Amino acid sequence: MDFDIGDISLAEEGKRRIEWAGEEMKVLKTIKTRFQKEKPLSGLRIGACLHVTTETANLMVTLKEGGAEPFLCASNPLSTQDDVAACLVKEFGISVFAIEGEDNDTYYRHIESVIGANPHITMDDGADLITTFHTKYPAKAKEIMAGTEETTTGVIRLKSMEKDGALLYPVVAVNDAMTKHLFDNRYGTGQSALDGIIRATNFLLAGKVIVVFGYGWCGRGIASRARGLGARVIVVEVDPLRALEAVMDGLDVMTSTAAAKVGDIFVTSTGDKSVLRSEHFELMKDGATLCNAGHFDVEIDIPALVSMSVDRQVARQHVERFTLRNGRKIFLLTQGRLVNLAAAEGHPAAVMDMSFSNQALTVEYARKNSQDLERRVYGVPSEIDMEIARLKLESMGINIDSLTPEQDEYLHSWTIGT
Ligand code: ADE
Repeated sequence: MDFDIGDISLAEEGKRRIEWAGEEMKVLKTIKTRFQKEKPLSGLRIGACLHVTTETANLMVTLKEGGAEPFLCASNPLSTQDDVAACLVKEFGISVFAIEGEDNDTYYRHIESVIGANPHITMDDGADLITTFHTKYPAKAKEIMAGTEETTTGVIRLKSMEKDGALLYPVVAVNDAMTKHLFDNRYGTGQSALDGIIRATNFLLAGKVIVVFGYGWCGRGIASRARGLGARVIVVEVDPLRALEAVMDGLDVMTSTAAAKVGDIFVTSTGDKSVLRSEHFELMKDGATLCNAGHFDVEIDIPALVSMSVDRQVARQHVERFTLRNGRKIFLLTQGRLVNLAAAEGHPAAVMDMSFSNQALTVEYARKNSQDLERRVYGVPSEIDMEIARLKLESMGINIDSLTPEQDEYLHSWTIGT
């Protein structure tokens, strides 16, 4: 069995933490139990490029119990939990290629290792695996049955590939399932981004001015959780509807230039590049703290920050202090990479339960329906979404009503009186 990980001796700690997370992933556990009996994925090689966390480990084990052979590499060089990688290799016999803090070359070498396994299905978080397949191995890519994509940024990339006619195999946008983005992006990112900021800095957030860039599902979650901790929250948006929503959610909305002057902590969550750049750094207060909760490390223009600085030091783990020529200090968390995964543990297991249940059921769906899928980006079938919502409520012990026959008829008829 092939693998490349940081330290195999960490396997026991990894096992304890994977089991701990598994207890919070009740929907995935139900799927695993069925997969163990039915083996719907037998013989399927799955190449996964995901954050190597305890939650991902539970997904990999579920896929394996379903009869698949998973091969896992990291979707971010800083998010790998080495104890998890060790346990997957040692206890579960799963090939993992991921080391926390790996450099760019190693990161891509590990993606190539997964490609070398000739997967039937790819599973991405940010589309690095599928992009490498398309750019370097198009002949192999044409043989692939289907792919899945976990995150908004990846789906945007895939849709532009589809539009250009460049997509070589069908992909399901798991991110777009309701039981994914409404919960993972909002409550998962909301909580874990603040968890990352707190673990990295130990700042008191009450009374701080937190500027959130982007009011998509992730930005909404970050803003709402920051407000819950007593921060004064400012939103910066380019979309008028989203900006209006932020205003009516009771938040301050202003331009990035205005916000740069008053913010204490800046959190980017837009999916775009150079959201924070030199014109903002110039205006920031001494001690301003920057971090990113969007998928790639392009949201903060770090090269510009470096070129404006006369000194760059590690202030504490996960925090770098840049001293600008104007004498002011700016703190950067986790090198501008996903703060929730680099300084904390990513989203909690209870929310990844739904995201990864979507992944598991989508792989099963793709296998069953592969003959009918074209080279397009598909949504997750709504039956899967509804089933996951139902199972999640059940696992939480929450019952809901159903319509009476009269109510059902009323909703479906146009002849019954208004
Ligand atoms: N993305 C965000 N949080 C995650 C987690 N805990 N595991 C895997 N992927 C994630």
